[in-house]
Amino acid sequence: MEKLTYSHDSAAAETLAAYYETPPMAYVRSYGCQQNVNDGEKIRGVLQDVGFGLCDSLEDADLILFNTCAVREHAEQRVFGNIGALKKLKEQNPKLVIGVCGCMAQQPHIVEKLRQSYPYVDLVFGVDGIDRLPAMLAERLRRGKRYLQMPEQRNAVVEELPIRRDSGFRAWLPIMYGCDNFCTYCIVPYVRGRERSREPGAILAEFRGLVANGYKEITLLGQNVNSYGKGLAQPVDFADLLNLLCEVPGDYQIRFMTSHPKDASRKLIDTIAAQPHLCKHIHLPVQSGSDRVLQQMNRRYTAEQYKELVRYARQKIPGVTFSSDIIVGFPGETEEDFSATLDLVREVGYMQLFTFIYSKRSGTPAARMPDPVTHAEKAARMERLLRVQDEYAFAAVAAMAGQTVRVLVEAAGRTPGTCNGRLDNNLVVEFPAPESLIGQWAQVRLTGSRAALLVGELAQENTTETEV
Ligand code: 5AD
Ligand code: SF4
Repeated sequence: MEKLTYSHDSAAAETLAAYYETPPMAYVRSYGCQQNVNDGEKIRGVLQDVGFGLCDSLEDADLILFNTCAVREHAEQRVFGNIGALKKLKEQNPKLVIGVCGCMAQQPHIVEKLRQSYPYVDLVFGVDGIDRLPAMLAERLRRGKRYLQMPEQRNAVVEELPIRRDSGFRAWLPIMYGCDNFCTYCIVPYVRGRERSREPGAILAEFRGLVANGYKEITLLGQNVNSYGKGLAQPVDFADLLNLLCEVPGDYQIRFMTSHPKDASRKLIDTIAAQPHLCKHIHLPVQSGSDRVLQQMNRRYTAEQYKELVRYARQKIPGVTFSSDIIVGFPGETEEDFSATLDLVREVGYMQLFTFIYSKRSGTPAARMPDPVTHAEKAARMERLLRVQDEYAFAAVAAMAGQTVRVLVEAAGRTPGTCNGRLDNNLVVEFPAPESLIGQWAQVRLTGSRAALLVGELAQENTTETEV
């Protein structure tokens, strides 16, 4: 694997400066997972590094980049819809450059579709091409015509990319890229390539910088964080990495996603139990409760092994909560398979569930499996799953009333005059508070709930807490 360090491309910066009469503005929109959001932050950082300003409206932009997601068909359709809407803008401003990057751009049939049906798209680049974006942009401007090259997959990690973070108190920190698991429904291993772990030293340096800059919540990212460390010279696993990071002094909390159940070790659970900086919440996607379907999905665990892991964590980590992803209607899923999923969901008791109807991804093994169940039947199963989930989660959330908890205030609440804060266990509470509290810790007394949302009020302790 290649280890690369970003360096400022002054030749590209000069080409860009010569092309635009006034400092150019870029609009970058990211779709999909946190990894992609973090890539979007790096794209903005790199663009600023070569002289772009950033804007929030398409109309003000000299460069529009859609950083796309390919995990489900619906996400792709949305992107095509949004690209279609740019045609008018390009007619009004022929100097506008339109680029498509991210996971969709990593698929040959998508690049072909862009080439044939979207003549106003100027540029495509893949998930590993962010460091080369200035050079590609300069090349596009020099040529004076579109530059659609199928992005290559690079077996590389690029360090020290400039970054323009969206938040001043919550940060994403990728620890690895790619995925080697090849779950049969999933496009990620094809578009994001093989697993590559960052060096612990590079992660630690970025982490220290975040803590020094006042970041209070740092979320470690990887498609499968539990296989962190494969291929590194020094023997270090994910739990070791967590312990290393937790030695950094400061008032912060760490979250991480995503954990693959087959690789989540007891050592990891023990580490979460022992380290106060680690949030007591585990996102542990199960995908299905049927062993037959799990096998067809190539998940490499059984429902029983999964439940055993949850039991171990519950016993070791008081108050731990779980969330999960579930795919409804995987090819060939029977009523019996689906009932097994409902049983597992009832038994585990998830605070949050992210549910998806299976979406066929061309090039994956599941796309070739017989899929006789109708979409209407899959949608009906989804409804049933959501009802089971709501019943558990609403009751579990309501049962927390009466406690006083520390939260990180994240955003304004839906109700005017309120803020939303996130608990250590990943639940969200809405409480009356000024927006000046956003980005701060607060003690909140939980008074009740509305569906899966907690409601509360600032606790008395805050006056002393915030003065310290
Ligand atoms: N169809 C539906 N859901 C999918 N996911 C991944 N691939 C597909 C697909 N083809 C879901 C999985 C994964 C989450 C990020 O997206 O549940 O955990
Ligand atoms: Fe996709 Fe499976 Fe890898 Fe997750 S672990 S990214 S679901 S292949």
